[in-house]
Amino acid sequence: MLETEVYKLPSSWEARELLREKGQFWTPDWIAEPMVEYVLADKDGLLFDPAVGTGVFFRAAKVIAGEKGLNVRFAGMEIDSTVLSQAIKHGLDKDDIVSVKIGDFVLQSPQKKFQAIVANPPYIRHHRLDPGKKAQLKQLAAQLVGKPLDGRAGLHIYFLIRALSLLEENGRMAFIMPADTCEGKFAPDLWAWITRNFALDAVITFSPEATPFPNVDTNPLIFLMRKAPPEAQFLWVKCSRPATDALKRWVRSGFKNVSTQDLFVIVRDLKEGLTTGLSHEPFPDANTGYVLGDFVKVMRGIATGANDFFFMTIEKAKKLGIPEKHFVKAIGRTRDVPDNEITYETIERLERRGRPTLLLMLSGDNEETFPDSLRRYLQEGEYLGLPKRPLIAQRKPWYKMEARVPPPFLFAYLGRRNSRFIRNIAKVVPLTSFLCVYPKDQDRGEEHLEQIWKILNHPDTIANLSKIGKTYGDGAIKVEPRLLEKLPVPDHVVRQFEFPVQMRLFEPKESYPAHTGQDAVDEGD
Ligand SMILES: C[S@@+](CC[C@H](N)C(=O)[O-])C[C@H]1O[C@@H](n2cnc3c(N)ncnc32)[C@H](O)[C@@H]1O
Repeated sequence: MLETEVYKLPSSWEARELLREKGQFWTPDWIAEPMVEYVLADKDGLLFDPAVGTGVFFRAAKVIAGEKGLNVRFAGMEIDSTVLSQAIKHGLDKDDIVSVKIGDFVLQSPQKKFQAIVANPPYIRHHRLDPGKKAQLKQLAAQLVGKPLDGRAGLHIYFLIRALSLLEENGRMAFIMPADTCEGKFAPDLWAWITRNFALDAVITFSPEATPFPNVDTNPLIFLMRKAPPEAQFLWVKCSRPATDALKRWVRSGFKNVSTQDLFVIVRDLKEGLTTGLSHEPFPDANTGYVLGDFVKVMRGIATGANDFFFMTIEKAKKLGIPEKHFVKAIGRTRDVPDNEITYETIERLERRGRPTLLLMLSGDNEETFPDSLRRYLQEGEYLGLPKRPLIAQRKPWYKMEARVPPPFLFAYLGRRNSRFIRNIAKVVPLTSFLCVYPKDQDRGEEHLEQIWKILNHPDTIANLSKIGKTYGDGAIKVEPRLLEKLPVPDHVVRQFEFPVQMRLFEPKESYPAHTGQDAVDEGD
């Protein structure tokens, strides 16, 4: 029987931070059992888990071994002995964990190979890794993959590489990983290596309602892989209901028995999957001729390099005595725009609430006209070391701000609320939480803007957003400018609004968009 364990996060911030430091998030049984089912492949033998935690996968293996009369033994690693000691409380015997070594799996990995490996590796982002360890990990990747991976790869990526390198011939591996595994800057190099050397059997994704880790801001995927010659196709699954045994039954049936109510399963070409991104559905559909870039141009919002300094409230500007003409109205956070419009009212409301709305917009070619108040403020910035900050150091003079014409539309691309387009009636400029969306044809007037607004807001256009960008557990999507331009706009949406024939600026796109569009601003995580 599947235990429908509800995943709970500790409520205090400190406790959650501690979990994050060590990447301690436990896998629910309805996920662990199908993963173990796959790697055991109906065989007796040794199951290896490189990040044992409280032993979820060993427990799942005991259930499956019991159901099938298999003789399964366990080995593994865990860095935290206190966590491992809880395995007993969670239903394992001392004998089950006797071969679990306390230590760092990636840097002190076992010298032998395994037939069956299963893991939910610690999801520790690159900025939480200390520089010494990061350098060692980079070296490890260079050694195993043949080249170092982009520095934004977190510890879980190195777990994946290391574990793959420990697979015996025809051995099987199941890993549950965050979506950045296929969406990060390092992903093309990582997957080129994996798909040259291993067979990818299946990728299992989850709709937001079915996420195995509710309330955790990641979009997890399961990868089922074999140490065998690569194959041209793989199975791509979307699981739409949590805590059922549909996945386990599907794996047990040799990927045949599909519960259509809970699972959507398709066969995909590996080449297409890698181009589209393994976390996304295949795209575009056959009836898509247009992409958003046929109608609009997309740029990221302004990157100030130091929001605390350049972006301020009216009170602060007044207190500093810097005249209004040195500022432009700006919007900083998606949370500051509660609906689909930014009106003058929206801005006034933010000002009343003491939210920053003024961006110091200096070009630097009229320094001699700066009032003393502004000069003093800039000196303060120099004193704070701002001119040396990475982004700012590239500017001359250091306080020169990026310029943007206020865009008629914005795209809010990350936030708890679903990604959405916003009409910018107040003509503000946005910071980097938004993308700027400009009509390609700037001279067509209001009516044209209205038509574009309707295209942007059409439910079928919005539905296509889930096919691009980086995905998060709660359904939020982060999209880079070039990718947003590749958003498919269904033909019927364009036709509905009677766009003049000459609006068809380009021939319909046929190719899949490459999932590599990254913009200049550091993504950090
Ligand atoms: C995401 S939890 C998963 C635990 C368990 N397998 C499960 O699925 O519930 C990852 C585990 O890896 C452990 N861990 C973190 N860094 C590690 C390392 N370098 N080597 C081995 N284990 C590590 C953490 O303490 C944590 O228990």
